This record gives sequence, structure tokens and C-alpha cells, in this order.
Amino acid sequence: MLKNPAEKYTAFAPIALPDRKWPAQRIERAPIWMSTDLRDGNQALFEPMSIDTKLELFAMLTRIGFKEIEVAFPSASQTDFDFVRRLIEEDRIPEDVSIEILTQARDSLIDRSFESLVGARRAIVHVYNATAPVFRETVFNMDRAACIELAVRAASRIREQAERYPQTEWTFQYSPEVFSSTELEFALEISERVAAVWEPTTQRRMILNLPATVESATPNVYADQIEWMSRNLSRREAIIISVHPHNDRGTAVAAAELALMAGADRVEGCLFGNGERTGNVDLVTLALNLYTQGIDPKLDFSNINEVARIVEESTQLPIHPRHPYVGDLVFTAFSGSHQDAIKKGFAVQSKKDTWAVPYMPIDPRDLGRSYDSVIRVNSQSGKGGIAWLLETGYGLTMPRRMQVEFSGVVQHVMDSSGTEMEAGDLWRLFNQTYLDAAVPFKLRSHSLKESGDEHRIELSILHHGKEEQRQGRGNGPLAAALDALGTACTIHSFEERSLSHGSGAQAMAFVEIAMQGIPGTLFGAGCSTSITEASLQALVSAVNRAFAHPARAS
Ligand code: KIV
Ligand code: ZN
Repeated sequence: MLKNPAEKYTAFAPIALPDRKWPAQRIERAPIWMSTDLRDGNQALFEPMSIDTKLELFAMLTRIGFKEIEVAFPSASQTDFDFVRRLIEEDRIPEDVSIEILTQARDSLIDRSFESLVGARRAIVHVYNATAPVFRETVFNMDRAACIELAVRAASRIREQAERYPQTEWTFQYSPEVFSSTELEFALEISERVAAVWEPTTQRRMILNLPATVESATPNVYADQIEWMSRNLSRREAIIISVHPHNDRGTAVAAAELALMAGADRVEGCLFGNGERTGNVDLVTLALNLYTQGIDPKLDFSNINEVARIVEESTQLPIHPRHPYVGDLVFTAFSGSHQDAIKKGFAVQSKKDTWAVPYMPIDPRDLGRSYDSVIRVNSQSGKGGIAWLLETGYGLTMPRRMQVEFSGVVQHVMDSSGTEMEAGDLWRLFNQTYLDAAVPFKLRSHSLKESGDEHRIELSILHHGKEEQRQGRGNGPLAAALDALGTACTIHSFEERSLSHGSGAQAMAFVEIAMQGIPGTLFGAGCSTSITEASLQALVSAVNRAFAHPARAS
């Protein structure tokens, strides 16, 4: 570790904008979105996409609702050139969608780019050159004047080429590359000079894209830069200000959001943040951040799993399980206190108009995701999560104190197995613990007679495997059965509920008993189509569990 980073790295100088307005602004509508998945995203892959893959991804981008899609860098690759031709010749571009291509600022490359676009209904031609000092000085050995000259010449060539193809509706876009590290007055000067060539009007606006090609400052600095440009551009109303943040510092989403507050009209990025190095800004996160603020993002992620599948297949890159909105684990709570809060939130959610479930910034169903994995049980989890899984998976609602008891049973198993338990595992453990408890007593049948307040019962049981008939009496069937079993127990509570999932008209009964010599109480459960049968089974289950209790065994 370097002892003094200040010897090696310089901090970004603050922008002189004491009257900045953006901190008080709110984002009130969706920006113009531009997907560069097929260009910046594709450029950053181990293996660039095939034409078929690009066609599939393009179709999906249009289904999501993108109206501007940067489809290729046609002068740089034959595959890209051919892809643009396929889109146009096979009439694959929806009426309201503009395709965009990127070109470097060189005549031959511009000409080749226009060749790829012949016959397009409408297209955006995007030209860039590097303007930041480190590029001017180190990479191109070019002074400011030469840098401007390059951009102006390219702008003129683009205008001339566009005039040769008047049947296409053209939009021009200029990017001063690494805008975020370019001296602001120089970025303004070069952008003005390009605009002077293109002469945009409010009817025919140009796009000025201001990339944070390499993110190198906090997002507020980018916002200052965007506000400064927005204030100082002479043809502001004829210019669409676009931002193109990369994620080198991990703050591209914040940078884009603050840039929108600072006056940007348009955002370029990729789905799930694919793109060079740490990626382009993640358009899914940006759009869904808007959605959770009650703003229509104008992009449809109502089947986000499908979008993720296609993106993963196209890029051959996995999406992280904790990626906002889409990751496998982002709607999952393992911790007991989180599970408890979520469970309470869901219980009252149906009575509310607006979404307010703790720990869940968005309703997973809005993204086509289910509630199935919202609660998962591991050794960190508590009774709430276990109860939720049994309730939603099997329609089993345990009494509250029984939830505590059963979570102890689960914890015990988990301490030795150490792995997660799914609803099916819990259901099996519940059955093993309560419904299968058959020693020393197994109830085979019963007959009950009632006269006034007195109940008489005859139980047919197996006692340690031997058939026995036992009689008992009491002020109810349970008291009579307890008498018949002849054990020193008292009944503390009884509850009965219908088992609401997939088991016909099954009733589940729960009996809580105390037995001398055993601390606290114990639950038993029984399940049957007859309520009396279920409650007798529950009593026998509780008694059997009491007999098996370590305190009694010792
Ligand atoms: O990141 C960048 O600067 C780019 C430009 C070509 C716009 O991708
Ligand atoms: Zn980029």
C-alpha cells in the first residue's frame, strides 16, 4: 500500500459554480434514453456479439421501449457494418425508433458510416474526438486548435454526407470524449464550434453528449459540469444535452441522476451496466429508481427476468445476485428481524394504495418477479421467516407460541446442517416433529358420547405397538381423551384452523400441554378432515412429544 496517495494521485479541482441550482431540483420525468448495449456494451465483451445475437438484443430493446439505440460502430468492423445493413434491408427498425452509429472524426470513416446507413428512415450519426488534456498531449500530441479543427472538419463532412441522402431524417451527435476531464471552457468552445457547423434549430436539434468516459470525481462535480455547460451554451434550446457516465468510481447512477437534475435531457447507458471496464451507467437501475419515485420511466421492465436472461446470453456475463432490482437475492431476507418486518408489511399491504413494505423498495411483482424467495431461512433467520414459508407454501398457520417452539427445532437442525432450509424442508421437519410423533401412543380410532356437559370417549390406540382400548371422561373431548391416556398433563391451549392449501378440506389442530417435570409447555399437531379427529391427534402428538422430552427422559 502506498503510504501517501497524495504523492501519486491528484484530487479533482472543484468547479466554480457557487450559485449552482441543481441541488434543489427534482427529476420529474423520464429522460430520453439511449441504449448503447450494441455498441459500447458490445465493444467491451470477451467475444463481441454475432449478428444473430445483436438482432435478438435489438428486438428486445425495442420491446422495452427504447426509441434511440446505438447499434454499431460500422466503420470499425465488418460485422457491425453488416448488422446495420440487415436492420435496414430487413425492415427491422420500428417506425418510431432511431438507430444510431458511432464514428471517429475521420473523413473515410464518416463516409463508410454513411454507406452503412443508406436507406434508413431516420438515423443519428454520432461523432467523437478526444478533448481532455491527457489525450491531447499524451495520446495525440495535438494542441487545442488542432483538436477543434478535427472536430469541425468531421462535423462538416457529416453535414455534407447527410445532404447526399435527403431521404433519411438525420440527427447529428457530437461527444467531446472524456468531457468530464476536459477544461470546461475548452469543452464549451469545441462544442460551440461543432454546433456552428451543424446549425441546429429547435425543430432540428443536435445532440451534445458529454461523457464521463472515465469517472474520476464525485457525482456532484459532474452535475456542476453539466449545469455549467447547460447555462453557457449559446444555442441551448436547439441542443439536447446528453450524458454518458461510466462507472469507474461506482457512482455512475448517482452521476446520471444528478446530471438530470442539472439540466441533462438524455442518458446513454447499458442494461445492467454492461460496458467498458466497470461499465456504462445501468439504465435498468436508473429507470426503476424513477419508477419507485412514482415517475413513469417509459421503459418496460415488467418481465425483468426475461430481460436479464437475454442480456446474460448476449454478453456471456452473469448478473451479480445483489444487482439492484434484478439480482437473485435482492428481494430475499435471511435475517429474522427483516423477515418479521416484511411479514408485517405484507399483512397490511393489501389494504393500502401505495407500496410500503419494509426493506422492499419496490413490489417484486411489478418486475414480474414472485414473492417466493422473499423469505429464505438459514441459521440467521427467526420464527417469522419459518412461519411465512409454511404459511405461503402449505397454508399452515401455527399459533404464535408454537412458531417460537418450532423455530427452536429448525435452529437445532440448521446448527448441525449449516445450510439453508426451503419451504419443503420445513414442511417435512414439521411433519416429522408433530404429525409423525407416534410413541408411546398412536391413535387409531375413537368413539365419543356426550350427555349434558360430560363427554365420554373410547380410544382405540397402539401403546408401544400394542393394541389397547381406553376409556375416559371429561368436560370436553380433549379432557376425556387425556383422562383415557392416563398421563399427568394439563391442556393450556387449543386452536384449530383449516389448512388452506391444496389438501381438500383438511383441518389442522394444535394442542399445547404442560407435563409435570418438563419446563414450559409443548405443542402437538394433528391433521384430519374431521375437526375432532384432528384435535385428538394433536393431543396425542403433544403427549408423545412430552414423553420424548429430554427433561423427562433423564
Ligand atoms: O465513453 C465515451 O466517451 C464514449 C464516447 C464514444 C461517447 O463511449
Ligand atoms: Zn462510453
